[in-house]
Amino acid sequence: MTYTPTDYNPYDFANRRHIGPSPAEMAAMLQVVGVESLDQLIDETIPAAIRQDTPLTWAPLAEHELLAKMREVAGKNRVMTSLIGQGYFGTVTPPAIQRNILENPAWYTAYTPYQPEIAQGRLEALLNYQTMVADLTGLPVANASLLDEATAAAEAMTMAERTAKSKARGFFVDRGCHPQTIAVIRTRALPLGIEVIVSAPEALDATQVFGAIFQYPGTYGHVRDFTAEIAALHAAKAIAIVATDLLALCMLKEPGAMGADIAIGSSQRFGVPMGYGGPHAAFMSCRDDLKRAMPGRIVGVSIDARGNKAYRLALQTREQHIRREKATSNVCTAQALLAVMASFYAVFHGPLGLRAIAERVHFSTTRLARALKAAGAKVAPDAFFDTITVEVGVGQAGILAAARHEGLNLRKIGTDRVGITLDETTDEQVLIRVLRAFGIEGVPPHRATLGFPEDMVRETEYLTHPVFHMNRAESEMMRYMRRLSDRDLALDRAMIPLGSCTMKLNAAAEMMPITWPEFAALHPFAPVEQAAGYHEAISDLAAKLCEITGYDAMSMQPNSGAQGEYAGLLTIQAYHRAQGNGHRDICLIPVSAHGTNPASAQMVGMKVVVVKSAPNGDVDLEDFAAKAAAAGDNLAACMITYPSTHGVFEETVREVCDITHRHGGQVYIDGANMNAMVGLVQPGKIGGDVSHLNLHKTFAIPHGGGGPGMGPIGVKAHLAPYLPGHPETGGPSAGGQRVDMTEGPVSAAPYGSASILLISWAYCLMMGGAGLTQATRVAILNANYIAARLRGAYPVLFMGNRGRVAHECILDTRPFAEHGVTVDDIAKRLIDNGFHAPTMSWPVAGTLMVEPTESETKAEIDRFITALLAIRAEIKAVEEGEITAEASPLRHAPHTVEDLVADWTRAYPREQGCFPPGAFRVDKYWPPVGRVDNVHGDRNLICICPPLESYADAAE
Ligand SMILES: Cc1ncc(COP(=O)(O)O)c(C=O)c1O
Repeated sequence: MTYTPTDYNPYDFANRRHIGPSPAEMAAMLQVVGVESLDQLIDETIPAAIRQDTPLTWAPLAEHELLAKMREVAGKNRVMTSLIGQGYFGTVTPPAIQRNILENPAWYTAYTPYQPEIAQGRLEALLNYQTMVADLTGLPVANASLLDEATAAAEAMTMAERTAKSKARGFFVDRGCHPQTIAVIRTRALPLGIEVIVSAPEALDATQVFGAIFQYPGTYGHVRDFTAEIAALHAAKAIAIVATDLLALCMLKEPGAMGADIAIGSSQRFGVPMGYGGPHAAFMSCRDDLKRAMPGRIVGVSIDARGNKAYRLALQTREQHIRREKATSNVCTAQALLAVMASFYAVFHGPLGLRAIAERVHFSTTRLARALKAAGAKVAPDAFFDTITVEVGVGQAGILAAARHEGLNLRKIGTDRVGITLDETTDEQVLIRVLRAFGIEGVPPHRATLGFPEDMVRETEYLTHPVFHMNRAESEMMRYMRRLSDRDLALDRAMIPLGSCTMKLNAAAEMMPITWPEFAALHPFAPVEQAAGYHEAISDLAAKLCEITGYDAMSMQPNSGAQGEYAGLLTIQAYHRAQGNGHRDICLIPVSAHGTNPASAQMVGMKVVVVKSAPNGDVDLEDFAAKAAAAGDNLAACMITYPSTHGVFEETVREVCDITHRHGGQVYIDGANMNAMVGLVQPGKIGGDVSHLNLHKTFAIPHGGGGPGMGPIGVKAHLAPYLPGHPETGGPSAGGQRVDMTEGPVSAAPYGSASILLISWAYCLMMGGAGLTQATRVAILNANYIAARLRGAYPVLFMGNRGRVAHECILDTRPFAEHGVTVDDIAKRLIDNGFHAPTMSWPVAGTLMVEPTESETKAEIDRFITALLAIRAEIKAVEEGEITAEASPLRHAPHTVEDLVADWTRAYPREQGCFPPGAFRVDKYWPPVGRVDNVHGDRNLICICPPLESYADAAE
């Protein structure tokens, strides 16, 4: 036989690994859709007037080539021992946690636990986190993570404003808070008209403020008792917030014991690498009566249909979608995966282990201070935990250089001091090197003497719950982590067809570099020359994102989509101010917008004017024009989503942008749906002035069970000078060029959660320009295939002029309501079929929004369609009176193993209930609980681990 060469490229990442359907499958799908080619489908879907004219052209890399390139770039970073502190610490990630959580798709590919029945594992881990935070801070209620310490402080400030009885407009900030915390607080306060007073705690005049934040250990190390200041605040009906450190609290008197109302901080040093700034989970805890004002997500305990204990997200009625511009905050995606890691760090070490780590850090610091003092150095403060500063006068540069020579980064403070912060990784050798940098040879012996007064010693117990007292053999730990992840449905089991969430493949090669020490161990404020690799990656990613979006500059600082919205609106506001138009304060937002849009507008003090939707789902142009005209000179911006949240490329988008510009407003295009546009449409070229990109959707960062994410913003050139700056680094990178910055930061770190930018960069590099464009085309094909196959069974709401949907489609389930079948019934029944439900009741109540993404194969999509058609048949049986909705498998869904083995008294066969079409027989996913009772959970709010008895199962 003659040899015929093949043109199959096994190393083509885009087409062989990332994009699900094979060419043959695509051909079959196009036939069902009713088009000759993918080109034809795209032409029928995307209006010609908005199509991108220049293709994305960079060449793709294979996975092994990517990893080789990443190694080369990693080599350009220099990992030193950073003793800079300022909220970021060296830590030892237990390898079992790194491998079984951070590097395990069962954990990192999960979605936010809105569907509690398929999320009991991560909900338990997050409840452990809340319990850990509540215990260590001595306050009864904690949330399940915030974006970073600085934004948590800003959230606490606005929470204080909402809840304080004092009517004062000032907010006091202890000058011992970290500089980035103070800067983010200032950014947040400015548009809200809050006067920020930064001073020493002794200077507090409690009558002038609605709240105050103090920090211990302070940024320069101070350990203080704030009981007196807190009492003064309470006498003035103001709220007391304390920023603190969980490890220090293993030895120090806790904020609750000082009377604090709210505590915040970062849990980074509980096993989460610094990653050049993130991601890490911030925490917040508070007094019980403030819990309903707490931002972010709170995990609570409820019961399921059988009365068994079940976890769920509590108080969801405070969520943005319901309260919109009156929402508590705009926090949506947070830091779930990192909170899970931190909670496991506590489970792994237990209270004794944590205390031993705290003592080791503390006694190393006292040892260092003793040596420095003995050599005649002026060391401050008198009371400290892990941080001291040394007065070095004109010798500052010399000491910093000597330290660098020893492989150490110390903190430069002003012109005559250096700061030293020790951590879990500090050993004898590090102490020797630090002292050598000061010209001192040798270290004094270890002594267990405290570096703070006796009355600051913690007197209460913590982490008493049995989960923190498990046998800590790795076998047990590994099995606990496995047990929890087995309870959950993540992308490693089935497609997650969540509209507007873009749950695409998070490829192994994209994930691998983030745990390499060259990327993981960098301090965000390390000298810039030590981070050359990071800067190469970040500026190339920024350049690629500019090319993709048609914008001129990118800020890589916002660490979630909503944070990007907030940053983008601030940028618009600063621009207006600079033009002498600071009075412009109206923001037009379509009624269908994601709830974070109005919540973000409210955070920058804009007035939200809601624009109607036309019957076809588009923005109602007439209403838009009228409201823009009415706003006139006061129009600041409009916030639209493209393609719309209804999953359609609206023909009128250019007109909407033109109207806004004619009235002097700026156009914010929410880029959450960018997966329908990459390579085909550029928001910056169709009229947008600014957009955020959810890198955790379109650009392959995994969702982590509710975060991390990154929400960089792209802007047109005229807005670039108004992007967020940062006290440590100045301006952002704008198209590779540094811009001088005057605006304040929105995140604690200059590049937000920098380490996960590497995932998006790897994705762009492996896909290449053509691969990214093909991914968009296939995402549109997959959505149109689902719409075509399901149209006969479920009405598909909203389509373009030529009958096409974009990258998602909305299935209408409202017609079934008259027979008693709810959208909830369908969502829960899908769990029996082995699927996560699509997005429920948004943007239209009573509908399901399905987004398959390009990563799903035809076989998986067909399995999903089979499931939905089988559910439709069950609905039909209800419609035709064969069974009532109450008695049907729809209402009893999801079915558990307990249902399977119990006496079968249902009105439908056991087989139908437990093994509906689409479900695997051998690999069947069994939800650990039945349908969760939401009302019970909110009425009886419990946000920390329930008592021992309820853990009987876990112990078996
Ligand atoms: C349209 C839209 N805008 C904004 C957001 C907010 O993004 P994030 O969750 O990253 O804050 C989302 C998130 O789902 C979204 O779908």
